[in-house]
Amino acid sequence: MAHQLAIESLTKNFQTAEGPVTAVDNVSFGIGGDDFFTMLGPSGCGKTTTLRMIAGLESITSGRVVFDGRDFTRVSAFQRGIGMVFQSYALFPHMTVFENAAYGLRVRQLGENEIKTRVQRSLDKLGLGGLAQRHPSDLSGGQQQRVSIARALVYEPTMLLLDEPLANLDAKLRVQMREEIRRIQKDLGIMTIYVTHDQEEAMSVSDRIGVFDRGRLRQFGAPSEVYADPRSLFVADFIGKANFLKVGIQAADRNSAKVAVRGYAPFAVARSVTLDSEESVEIPAGSDGLLLVRPEHLEIAAGVEGGLPCRVRRIQVLGSFIRYIVECDAATREVTVDARRAAPGVSEGSNANLGFAAEDALLFARKRP
Ligand SMILES: Nc1ncnc2c1ncn2[C@@H]1O[C@H](COP(=O)(O)OP(=O)(O)OP(=O)(O)O)[C@@H](O)[C@H]1O
Ligand SMILES: [Mg+2]
Repeated sequence: MAHQLAIESLTKNFQTAEGPVTAVDNVSFGIGGDDFFTMLGPSGCGKTTTLRMIAGLESITSGRVVFDGRDFTRVSAFQRGIGMVFQSYALFPHMTVFENAAYGLRVRQLGENEIKTRVQRSLDKLGLGGLAQRHPSDLSGGQQQRVSIARALVYEPTMLLLDEPLANLDAKLRVQMREEIRRIQKDLGIMTIYVTHDQEEAMSVSDRIGVFDRGRLRQFGAPSEVYADPRSLFVADFIGKANFLKVGIQAADRNSAKVAVRGYAPFAVARSVTLDSEESVEIPAGSDGLLLVRPEHLEIAAGVEGGLPCRVRRIQVLGSFIRYIVECDAATREVTVDARRAAPGVSEGSNANLGFAAEDALLFARKRP
């Protein structure tokens, strides 16, 4: 039977010198089977604390962690069947790769043959079979990271938790290793919770992501869903690049809103989100809402009629696409346009026009008092 993990209203308060801190605030979500779930969010948003409560390394203030219908609260970390990989590899420098991977099994006093079999199997899975007798100092960063994953897998865990496992690696190796982690994870069919603050990393490897902000889970879903349909300004801004246009709302009903952007004929937008009071304050005075348009949904052209007037600040040729960074009075800040091809007559310092299709825009409206 496929495993199920349910996180129910999980909360953690810490007592600190400055008073109580709510590190994790009423977080609930569920994953199952061989899901690759990623917790994504800025520094201090509660990712590690959530992971540690799931692992049993941190006490829970309130809420529950339920695995396969069983409340984990009274199950020790040792008995949870969890393999954990930490941000720093924390390998023992004086031990060989084999002994590093075997360490936890020795502590658990498994027989020598069992240890050999399990460690060898685990090292082979990670392509480390030939390096068993080396010491960590004689390994590359990527190889050291693999040893720390092998060390978590020797327990034959039912769940794998990885806390920023790639943080110490250079950009190219990170991309390679994240694909490898996903491959191993799918090979083993092991439920995995991964922590990162790198949104591209999260989007590329995960089946589901959870976006965290100040201890709260702001949104949970497939990467494509969270990108295309963010439910808050925070998520819209944190996942991918966001352009926000200031709009006036002329009329609104259940299914659509008629909006006006300065310099553009009023048009209807079918998709909208009503902000909570906390985020409503981010709508600039004089506007009723913000329109999210992703860079790939904007078009830029010179010498055409209509469209939003803008001034081109910078053009970056990024290989498979061209990025235009422009200034536009209707936007809250610099606007990014990603185009497949160079737009004729558009150069740095020139004036141009922006256009987009209404169906690609998502309206964030202020909560009405
Ligand atoms: N042992 C502790 N005592 C007091 N406060 C703590 C403790 N551990 C974490 N915190 C606080 O809880 C909040 C969440 O911390 P946490 O380590 O979970 O964040 P994070 O999302 O993992 O951040 P990062 O990306 O920087 O690792 C922070 O405000 C942090 O200062
Ligand atoms: Mg952390």
